Amino acid sequence: MHVTVVKETAERERRVALTPVGVEKLTAAGHTVTAETGCGRSAGFTDEAYSAAGATVTDRDAALASGGVVVGIHAVRTGIGPDHVVVGLVDPIWRPAAADRLAETGATVLSLELMPRITRAQSMDVLSSMATVAGYEAVLLAATRLPKMFPLLMTAAGTVPAARTVVLGAGVAGLQAIATARRLGSVVEAYDVRPAAAEQIESVGGKSIRLDLDTAESEDVGGYARAQSDDTNLRQQELLAPYIADADIVITTAAIPGARSPELVTTAMVDPMRPGSVIVDLAAERGGNCSLTRADDEVVHNGVTVLGPTDLASRSATSASRMYSNNVVTYLTHLTGDNGELVLDVDDEITAGTLVARGGSVVHPNVIDAIARSNRGSE
Ligand code: NAI
Repeated sequence: MHVTVVKETAERERRVALTPVGVEKLTAAGHTVTAETGCGRSAGFTDEAYSAAGATVTDRDAALASGGVVVGIHAVRTGIGPDHVVVGLVDPIWRPAAADRLAETGATVLSLELMPRITRAQSMDVLSSMATVAGYEAVLLAATRLPKMFPLLMTAAGTVPAARTVVLGAGVAGLQAIATARRLGSVVEAYDVRPAAAEQIESVGGKSIRLDLDTAESEDVGGYARAQSDDTNLRQQELLAPYIADADIVITTAAIPGARSPELVTTAMVDPMRPGSVIVDLAAERGGNCSLTRADDEVVHNGVTVLGPTDLASRSATSASRMYSNNVVTYLTHLTGDNGELVLDVDDEITAGTLVARGGSVVHPNVIDAIARSNRGSE
């Protein structure tokens, strides 16, 4: 197998999809690797380290001309064709038209977001890896913006009360946010619509918020949340309002795969919050969990700062790249046949789950559905 790692082109993107350690693992397994010049620089990995690991370091055109598997954080969409296998974040359910255009290049497209949520695929799950980093970074961001310290301190100058953090959505990012806020000394309460999350919240040191709501059907077979009815959403907002009003920090991470994020915190819920309080909305890219959120922007409402960063994983670029690279190497190893070649066995759940396009057409049923829905929507 020949693998090419490119330099990311998106604004504020500092991660790289394959680190020198990842290159070493692939070359040790008999594969060849080409790295675009400067691909790892902003994540702290030099061209010399890529060369030492066994990669050929060259400019983008030459790197892409070498064909084979092209790995990126964001799937490469230009300069590719039928000789390429594109591996990366494609976002095919949320942006189906772009996935369709990518398919038209003739490249085989493998979308890492679609990795099945099964135990066997855990070590290839880049969404979990990136959510871990984002949850951690969200707390650090809030901590630097809050005009208060996190821990309870008893000093000669009196008692300083602990900051109160509320985390909404206790999946991978939320649980990491709870653990990080606890380590800094905050009191942390958290809520998730999936009943199974309560125990996980407690296991990382948070206090689980229990609402008088029937959410028994909230989890699908894949372990993801389902969208709730409007009535349930309204009732949830009502019941969460006192917790939000009393919070110094609110971190929201609630997501429904492929859909707009649920609105959990309305403007009316922000109104009674103390000035200086901070909301960090990790769902900003999909419309946000707070109605005041603007993606990659800062809104100050009655003294409450609402932040909607979409680049949190990129802020710990070195750690995030290491995790992503490990996931990619495990995935490529999974796709390697007996003779070292790339094998796409559609009877395999992991391959079929991630294969978006092949031979010029989209082949993934969920993406085909998403394209049909978006075409109906634009008619
Ligand atoms: P996600 O990023 O899609 O959503 C984040 C959280 O928001 C979820 O926990 C979801 O239940 C919650 N949420 C959705 N609507 C909500 C609402 N209205 N109010 C409150 N919370 C709401 O999910 P994530 O973090 O990617 O993972 C979700 C689940 O999948 C977790 O149970 C996780 O442990 C499991 N998982 C399993 C894996 C595997 O077996 N390979 C890998 C990664 C996660």
